[in-house]
Amino acid sequence: MASWKFIAVSTVCVFVFLSGNISGLDNGLVLTPPMGWLAWERFRCNTDCKNDPENCISDRLFRTMTDILVTEGYTAAGYEYINVDDCWLERERDERGRLVPDRERFPYGMKSLADYVHSKGLKFGIYEDYGNFTCAGYPGVVGHLSGDATTFASWGVDYVKLDGCYALPTDMDYGYPEFGRQLNLTGRQMVYSCSWPVYQIYAGLQPNFSSIIEHCNLWRNFDDIQDSWASVESIIDYYGNHQDVIVPNAGPGHWNDPDMLIVGNFGLSYEQSKTQFALWAILAAPLLMSVDLRTIRPEYKAILQNRKIIEVDQDPLGIQGRRIYKHRGIEIWSRPILPIQQGQFYSYAVAFVNRRTDGTPSDVAVTLRELGLSNPTGYRVEDLYEDVDYGVLSPQTKIKVKVNPSGSVVILRADAQPGYAFNAITTRTPYTPLNDVFRLTKK
Ligand code: GLA
Repeated sequence: MASWKFIAVSTVCVFVFLSGNISGLDNGLVLTPPMGWLAWERFRCNTDCKNDPENCISDRLFRTMTDILVTEGYTAAGYEYINVDDCWLERERDERGRLVPDRERFPYGMKSLADYVHSKGLKFGIYEDYGNFTCAGYPGVVGHLSGDATTFASWGVDYVKLDGCYALPTDMDYGYPEFGRQLNLTGRQMVYSCSWPVYQIYAGLQPNFSSIIEHCNLWRNFDDIQDSWASVESIIDYYGNHQDVIVPNAGPGHWNDPDMLIVGNFGLSYEQSKTQFALWAILAAPLLMSVDLRTIRPEYKAILQNRKIIEVDQDPLGIQGRRIYKHRGIEIWSRPILPIQQGQFYSYAVAFVNRRTDGTPSDVAVTLRELGLSNPTGYRVEDLYEDVDYGVLSPQTKIKVKVNPSGSVVILRADAQPGYAFNAITTRTPYTPLNDVFRLTKK
């Protein structure tokens, strides 16, 4: 019975991987998921520059983060956007109805800040809200769609996150495309990040994903991330449990956004931080760090700058990965990536996650074929966090990884080899369902 179930699931996975060819918002931007820094999760709506000048939402904070992105190796690793979130505005528009940045906290205005970001070779993102107010109560864009799009273009904005507080979810099917249209009309290319589906899902509506894909470069499906492993787990579970609906929507230029990276903050252990980063890469997620780059510890910085995992996230195929196994606290997530051999055998990134809390590492042993890796000429397999090269393995080779408990990960990359690299495979092992190959000691 179990094996039938598994075979059925595998077939669906393969079908979805191979058929994910939806075309999206055609502004030529973010053909791989955007990477950058976003203020919200770490710095929230701290407007108290008198008592907390170094951490308040201000011109100074964003210039500082811009500098660090460049000097500390983040831009070299691919991080590109400096994104302002909520709480940058005055409470009122000006007499001509234009948005005004807080006069004390952004004394030089947003154009000056954008110019500074651009002068360092980076791109500048801003936050607004489709409704009457932003989530923190500042003026929203409704009633000012054209004017606000023009304002953003005149400031040199490269990326707009449009939230959905204080708006009717039923209005969003019109409002989000319309604001996107206004952005396009400015003639300035701006990445368009939408919160459209998440507000509709909360309201019990079924989002029209073909329209969302057509009009947005990325979109939120689920809750705001908070500084805890429980929050990361809830996001992982949501994406895993709804993957049949979510995964096919992703592709170059149009991405699901499971929210910011919280690596380097207070809530995750070192191992859990590695897991968030690995799974976000499997999910083809935007890599938007929300962390204090002035004080981040070196081991967390190393996670955020792990080139091998960034390469998985930025894989040009843009196919979002899936959870292919979940049983007794062990999960396996897998994402097809380049290179493809013989027009059909993908390479894969595979993450093994251990969410058990029984204190000791779990061994996970599985053949490549059981993971869906069946290229007859084999795969070169390496660990993306540890310096372990498994060499070229045939599909029937059983690999065994030791995964620490409490939210730890082992992430491998298996590159499909061309015909000449591995040709000694003549035998096939019988199929074994994945659920039978794990050696778990407890329920
Ligand atoms: C919403 C969004 C968050 C953040 C806040 C700002 O909750 O989902 O990402 O932008 O608003 O108020």
